[in-house]
Amino acid sequence: MRIDPVPALEGHVAVPGDKSISHRAVLVGALCEGDVRVSGFGRSADTEATIGAVRALGVEVEEHDVDTLTVHGVGLRGLRAPAGPIDCVNAGTLMRLVAGILAGQRGRFELVGDGSLSTRPMKRIAEPLRRMGALVETTDGHAPLVIEGAALRPIDYELPVPSAQVKSAVLLAGLFADGKTTVVEPIPTRDHTERLLERAGARVTRRPTSVSIDAGDGLELDELEVAGDFSSAAPFLVAAAIVPGSTLTVHGVGLNPRRTGLLDVLERMGARISIYNRRLVGGEPAGDIEMRTSELVGATVSAAEVPSLIDELPLLALAACHARGETVVRGAGELRLKESDRIEGVVDELKRIGGHIRATRDGFRVRGVPTRLRGGIVDSRGDHRLAMIGAVAGVSSQEGVELRGPDAVSVSFPGFFEVLGQLAPGALHYPPAT
Ligand code: S3P
Repeated sequence: MRIDPVPALEGHVAVPGDKSISHRAVLVGALCEGDVRVSGFGRSADTEATIGAVRALGVEVEEHDVDTLTVHGVGLRGLRAPAGPIDCVNAGTLMRLVAGILAGQRGRFELVGDGSLSTRPMKRIAEPLRRMGALVETTDGHAPLVIEGAALRPIDYELPVPSAQVKSAVLLAGLFADGKTTVVEPIPTRDHTERLLERAGARVTRRPTSVSIDAGDGLELDELEVAGDFSSAAPFLVAAAIVPGSTLTVHGVGLNPRRTGLLDVLERMGARISIYNRRLVGGEPAGDIEMRTSELVGATVSAAEVPSLIDELPLLALAACHARGETVVRGAGELRLKESDRIEGVVDELKRIGGHIRATRDGFRVRGVPTRLRGGIVDSRGDHRLAMIGAVAGVSSQEGVELRGPDAVSVSFPGFFEVLGQLAPGALHYPPAT
């Protein structure tokens, strides 16, 4: 697919519901007593895998339209072991969170994933879940996983890596443990699981660097509205920050402070960001974000800040190519363990289109020049976040981008190109249908 440069991006758009919260809405919904109506569901290949997984476990999910569902919860102990494996496809969040739930169920469960998911580390959840008493077999530390649920004991667990997925797996298992389970997180990560479980009536105790959960005695959640996904809004916000003369607003976006590190870093770089209509949506802060182009300067991002923009670091690298001076990102080794090695991928792809960027062990360094990148070929490597930076690089470059593997966007945001097309009319050229 070809993406041509545009003089400016302008307009008002909305993005689908948050992917992290949508996974959790379906998984926690499945454990509730009775029905949970979810609106603003972020439909994507990843979240459809979660619907498929709970259905395989005997939970009925009614799909009213593209973003409204009813999950007919079966209660904390009502899941049934399916005859075959549960396919988590490309979704790390699904595999790690459902593993926490299955650790406390009766039965034997097999979790499988696609090629990319099967290379991602699973020892990080197997280890604490085994300590709680579940039997968890990995394939050399990876999927396929086999889990045999057991009567669990509570643990105090300090996260060896800052990961919301690992924290969530332990907290969800904690619902089934006989006592208080505590997760200590020296660096805070996204807290959607804690917020949702609390809303559903679980006893959750939050402290600055830890969170505890008591054994669950029945969850209930009549309805849940999901705000727009900040990670899906981010490509457009970065495009507006770097394409001269742009002004755009993304409406109804989740603004959980543990997710919006990109805004903090862009503000330090000199971005002009305004937030309007601050409100709460489904127990999470949300609002409308306006971005106007401005001259950017380089910034430093340290390990403590990384979890709050982990999925936006590829976009930050692109923004940094346009910012005067040096940008340094440290403490982001986790990027190598995402859907692809996002340090290698981002560095190689941005270099190919004229960026001055180099990889380090746990991050990257960018020497920014306040002008458009040349453009050229960008390969998504099957990774949705890389496909999106390729598209943003296309509209912001001098010569445009030939984007290989654009379909990867469907993992988190199937309508991405339609929204980009609204903001940049005439820029997108699809290959002729074969
Ligand atoms: C997620 C947590 C993050 C993030 C991922 C979604 C979640 O992963 O990168 O896209 O929904 O909990 P880690 O917890 O592995 O850092």
